Amino acid sequence: MSRLLIRDLRQLVTPSGAAPLRGRALGEVEVVEEAFLLCEDGRISAVGPMRELESPPGDVEELDGRGLCALPGLVDCHTHACFAGDRVEEFALRAAGASYEELHAAGRGILATVRATRAAGEDGLRAAVERHRGWMMRAGTTTFEAKSGYGLDRDTELASLRAIRAADGVPTWLGAHSVPPEHDSADEYLDFLLTEVLEEAAPLAEAADVFLERGAFDVAQARRYLEACRDAGLALRLHGDQFTEAGAIPLAIELGARSVDHLEATGPEGVRALAASGVVGVLLPASALFLGRPMPPARELIDAGAAIALATDFNPGSAFCESLPLVCSLACTQLGMSPAEALAACTVNAAHVLARADRQGRLAPGYDADVVLLDAPDWRYLAYHLAGDVVGTVVRGGRLAWAR
Ligand code: NIG
Ligand code: FE
Repeated sequence: MSRLLIRDLRQLVTPSGAAPLRGRALGEVEVVEEAFLLCEDGRISAVGPMRELESPPGDVEELDGRGLCALPGLVDCHTHACFAGDRVEEFALRAAGASYEELHAAGRGILATVRATRAAGEDGLRAAVERHRGWMMRAGTTTFEAKSGYGLDRDTELASLRAIRAADGVPTWLGAHSVPPEHDSADEYLDFLLTEVLEEAAPLAEAADVFLERGAFDVAQARRYLEACRDAGLALRLHGDQFTEAGAIPLAIELGARSVDHLEATGPEGVRALAASGVVGVLLPASALFLGRPMPPARELIDAGAAIALATDFNPGSAFCESLPLVCSLACTQLGMSPAEALAACTVNAAHVLARADRQGRLAPGYDADVVLLDAPDWRYLAYHLAGDVVGTVVRGGRLAWAR
């Protein structure tokens, strides 16, 4: 049996309660001062204050937690980590005043990354996802979801899903991200996706996602794509209300989707509907910041009782940011959330979006031994130290995965 004991921690913090956490429960984390955490065979076997530590029998590897704070490995439930190339030129054009939607309409934007991703080949894509996974790990992410959606042809979409799996990511099929130039219309492209790609994509992915937006896919098209994906066994996600309220929330609720993500344009009616549903609102404040867009109505959603999660949206165009600690800082400074709400939103609630909340997102016996050690005197430095180098050590599956 392999054992790892992390002892003499300054603090240990964990969300508790049944996922998804909503309302007041979202902000109620448990903090243990002067704590230990014991891992056995990749799972957490005990957590508590040092005075309750009984020396475990047999061989135990020890990690000195003095001056460090332990929190659950972070879960990034929305990334586009499978891409090649960059969009630094577009970034500079936006800095000079061009808008993201204008650039998209002019063939830059998503389609520029599609060209680079198609040219990379499967080995190039695997190397790219592996590199991005390393970046995420150093920022404390121990579980990441990643979407395809920069291939938009059969071979590159399937290669993207395989590359995500190879890097131990949670794959989502975002075939309906944009209409590639070789197809005349969104409907004709959807025909192609559903007749020629779905059958092979479904066993490689856990969920399907669609970009429901002016200039991408409308409600009828999104419904057709998602229903076919659901019938093929996939869970459902939507990109919705990013620029306009185009019907994503009602559709997500109607289809029983796991989440609707973005919500920068969501108004009071959408807030009420989402709060009354089982669909999680995934908020992506790094994307709103990067594009200079309004922030999503996080406070309204939480106060109305909606289940929300936080994620990076890591991608080369709208959020070149892999850091969930930075997202937590934005949650506290821009979204009106408390550090405790931010933590729960990118651990247990994010794990719920990925159907993993029974194993991930908490530091409790039986959970995966995925742990972040902050090099800080208080766990709230996670959000407090804006773009700080707070993540000192990352443990994944009970093994040291990265240390500064
Ligand atoms: O979530 N909105 C659609 N898709 C991505 C952006 C993709 C890109 O710009 O490359 C998003 O922001
Ligand atoms: Fe996204």
